[in-house]
Amino acid sequence: MMMAKTFQFVCVLICFLAIIINIEACVKENATSYIDQGYYVEKTVVHNAVSKGAVCLDGSPPAYHFEPGFGDGVGKWLVHLSGGAWCTTVEECLNRSKSDFGSSNYMKPWWFQGIYSKTRSVNPDFYNWNKVFVRYCDGGAFTGNAEYVDPATNLHFRGARIFKAVMEDVLAKGLKNAQSALLIGSSAAGYPAMLYCDRFHKLLPNTPRVKCMVDAGYFIHVKDPHQARNFTEMYKAIVNLHGSAKTLPKSCTKKMKPEMCFFPENMQHKIKTPLYIAMSAFDKFQINTTIYDGINTCIEGGNCTATENKLFREFRLEFLNALPKGNNPKLRGAFIDARNHHTQVQGWWSPKNVTTVKNLNLMKAFADWYYDRNYTYVIDERDLPISAMNDIKPCDTKK
Ligand SMILES: *[C@@H]1O[C@H](CO)[C@@H](O)[C@H](O)[C@H]1NC(C)=O
Ligand SMILES: *[C@@H]1O[C@H](CO)[C@@H](O)[C@H](O)[C@H]1NC(C)=O
Ligand SMILES: *[C@@H]1O[C@H](CO)[C@@H](O)[C@H](O)[C@H]1NC(C)=O
Ligand SMILES: *[C@@H]1O[C@H](CO)[C@@H](O)[C@H](O)[C@H]1NC(C)=O
Ligand SMILES: *[C@@H]1O[C@H](CO)[C@@H](O)[C@H](O)[C@H]1NC(C)=O
Ligand SMILES: *[C@@H]1O[C@H](CO)[C@@H](O)[C@H](O)[C@H]1NC(C)=O
Ligand SMILES: *[C@@H]1O[C@H](CO)[C@@H](O)[C@H](O)[C@H]1NC(C)=O
Repeated sequence: MMMAKTFQFVCVLICFLAIIINIEACVKENATSYIDQGYYVEKTVVHNAVSKGAVCLDGSPPAYHFEPGFGDGVGKWLVHLSGGAWCTTVEECLNRSKSDFGSSNYMKPWWFQGIYSKTRSVNPDFYNWNKVFVRYCDGGAFTGNAEYVDPATNLHFRGARIFKAVMEDVLAKGLKNAQSALLIGSSAAGYPAMLYCDRFHKLLPNTPRVKCMVDAGYFIHVKDPHQARNFTEMYKAIVNLHGSAKTLPKSCTKKMKPEMCFFPENMQHKIKTPLYIAMSAFDKFQINTTIYDGINTCIEGGNCTATENKLFREFRLEFLNALPKGNNPKLRGAFIDARNHHTQVQGWWSPKNVTTVKNLNLMKAFADWYYDRNYTYVIDERDLPISAMNDIKPCDTKK
């Protein structure tokens, strides 16, 4: 009885101390001023793209959001292709055509944060760059190029033309004089960032530093046919509906079916421009699509079963195996973590919550790689997924 009481008391004391320490951590955090508000940026509609047939699903012109650079960032350009899954059937695409994922008519100003932040203390290496956030409104990962438009649906499958037309517009805006340039693609747009990486480089013959980055878009083809099915079927449907085959790399399509050329491990080795891959080995979207939808939920609950852990370990090995080898990190950089999340350059790009692996965080590792300061090929050794909020102090998470 006495023992129990003492134990209880010690417990209460420990909890109390823990709370105090936690508050102290928060105060310190406040003092270093990580408060970063973000900001809205209006859309720029590329009207003259319509005459080139470069249009969103509903036939409206494509659009992007542009924030000019300043200070020594005036010659630095970030072009970011945004993601948002795919539409693989006429019904899905019709649905999209009535939203900002298929029509510029529905696009509202975009919230710029993370790598778009203009605050030096929270985004030290990119805060003053010119920033272009390209809206994804074709549903086919910027690969579609179908001439025919069915009058019954008026759906346009023209993602490849959108990339071209938007680039022409942005080049004229000043990108053509860039000193440094970076093409990023997130999630579904990770693939076009790889597909167009060398073309982006060729458009900038006088730019000393041109590199590309895939943000959580390196979705692999696993060996188990049942697990591989969802991505393969989806890509097959995209090729058929969007007429993507002729946009895909010929070096790949002459060897295998076009849908297989959507898998990065089948085409990345041909890219001559330096490429960086930032992604969790247990990327939420990849594991939910490949293993089964919802397998990620046990990660946050901390109650994954032995069976689930086995699936995670097997998947991770295949993922690491499909990555470019780390033997030339200047040409192929990587930052592979173990968190249960998906995409990082907007929502997880702040000293507050950036992913850290072995004391090196993604913001620093990537910037060092981009600026040729240091090339570290980062792979988290943990072979099981961790919570998205791992290592983030609770007080940091308050809005
Ligand atoms: C940190 O700053 C925010 C906003 O200024 C404030 O609401 C909060 O109370 C501060 N936290 C602590 C622990 O001082
Ligand atoms: C159409 O959009 C609605 C709302 O976004 C969604 O709930 C529904 O599942 C979509 N249907 C198809 C076929 O994609
Ligand atoms: C594939 O997609 C279906 C339908 O969206 C989903 O129910 C399933 O969990 C996914 N994964 C696998 C491995 O079949
Ligand atoms: C699995 O992850 C995807 C991508 O983040 C998400 O859209 C989906 O809701 C998740 N599924 C479940 C059941 O949590
Ligand atoms: C796992 O933990 C979460 C959070 O505590 C809980 O909601 C969920 O029901 C648990 N799942 C199982 C299978 O026990
Ligand atoms: C990470 O922190 C930034 C800056 O406070 C915040 O805007 C963002 O929403 C946070 N990300 C997540 C996923 O909570
Ligand atoms: C490069 O990064 C590695 C790993 O973080 C570090 O050990 C090394 O000191 C860095 N080198 C330089 C020159 O900064």
